[in-house]
Amino acid sequence: MKILVLGPGAREHAIVLALLAEDAGHSIVCAPGNAGIAASGVDTVDLAFTDPVAVEKYVADRGFDLVIIGPEAPLVAGVADPLRAGGVPVFGPNADAAQLEGSKAFAKRIMDEAGVPTGRAAQVTSDSAAAVLDEFGAPYVVKADGLAAGKGVLVTEDRDAALAHVATWAPHGEVLVEEFLDGQEVSLFFFADGTDVVALTPAQDYKRIFDGDEGPNTGGMGAYSPLPWLPGGTEAFVEEIKQTVAIPTVRQLAAEGTPFIGLLYCGLIVTSKGVRVIEFNARFGDPETQVVLARLESPLSAYLLAAAQGELASLPAPTFSDEPAMIVVLASEGYPGDVATGREITGLDAAAAVTGVHLVHAATARTATDGWIATGGRVLGVVSRGQNFAEARARAYSAMNEIDLEGGQFRTDIAERVV
Ligand code: AMP
Ligand code: GLY
Repeated sequence: MKILVLGPGAREHAIVLALLAEDAGHSIVCAPGNAGIAASGVDTVDLAFTDPVAVEKYVADRGFDLVIIGPEAPLVAGVADPLRAGGVPVFGPNADAAQLEGSKAFAKRIMDEAGVPTGRAAQVTSDSAAAVLDEFGAPYVVKADGLAAGKGVLVTEDRDAALAHVATWAPHGEVLVEEFLDGQEVSLFFFADGTDVVALTPAQDYKRIFDGDEGPNTGGMGAYSPLPWLPGGTEAFVEEIKQTVAIPTVRQLAAEGTPFIGLLYCGLIVTSKGVRVIEFNARFGDPETQVVLARLESPLSAYLLAAAQGELASLPAPTFSDEPAMIVVLASEGYPGDVATGREITGLDAAAAVTGVHLVHAATARTATDGWIATGGRVLGVVSRGQNFAEARARAYSAMNEIDLEGGQFRTDIAERVV
């Protein structure tokens, strides 16, 4: 197939590697991609990938059998809309359905209508916030409505900080106060074709910057899969979420005339009272995708194309390796605040040579002498597999220890709780 992948990051690198691993002779272009994707032998193209007009023209000029939209920004900007209207198979929802991620208030309404289990929430203004925070009690959860690259959500015991967060975001749109949900987090992805869904396999993300879940939220500092501690086991858990979350959500969106075609990311918390949805995303999670696809044995492109064409029901369930996978993310000094960029990275070849390890790039560039520099916050990820989590961890961290980046940060406790 001739496939266009849109997006610049490690998630797109993982998608591209999964397509290459099919060994099906796909012709793949990634826009804009990154230097790591180019180093994997894939053509990268400098395209304004969040601009619906630019993407439509690029696709019309060249023709593609499938367009895969990686990040949320192009989805919310409506990049899928003209492509789908023009008959191009697109994996990624139209702008209206992408509101499931783009607006937390929209997502809450859909969940309410569909009867999906989620935390209690109330919309607040700077004036009403204090009373609502006192009613919900600590710890306080405050969420800005729109896309905020992980910065819109504050979970804190500090009432003044919660009030300040409301004051910061209220001028930019709706702000929600939500019930605090206590428990382990799970990310579970579903392919969706507008009507039917097909589950992938659960992963756990590490959102905080520091070991022990300390420090501010980030885009994600690591992940692992499977989750051996899931109540009832993986199969029963996945089936429960499919029946109580994914299907009702997709059917509700269809009934409202905004069918969801793409990746439904269910962000869940397993509480003592049952599983609750904390968020939906309208695209593959980053870095969870890197571990889920590292375990996927079925051909990814078949599911993406079937979803795009409304034919998921014709496919068998995908299969996943029993071998665990994990990722440790390397971030630049300062992340998730202002980051130092342009610093040299060394040791990548030695890291990639560790058994069971591969690298995915998020923000790197080549130097004139074929070296590497870091160009952003999350720089790259070390993905590993092993016969068990102890082996996967040993491999990932021995690879990470080969890599040098001045001021580089990574968590040392990824998957520790499952060894
Ligand atoms: P979100 O962007 O909604 O995924 O929120 C980012 C992170 O904040 C989540 O991954 C959770 O760790 C945390 N969080 C969000 N909502 C809640 C909640 N209601 N209770 C507890 N933690 C939450
Ligand atoms: N890892 C969290 C996300 O992709 O939103």
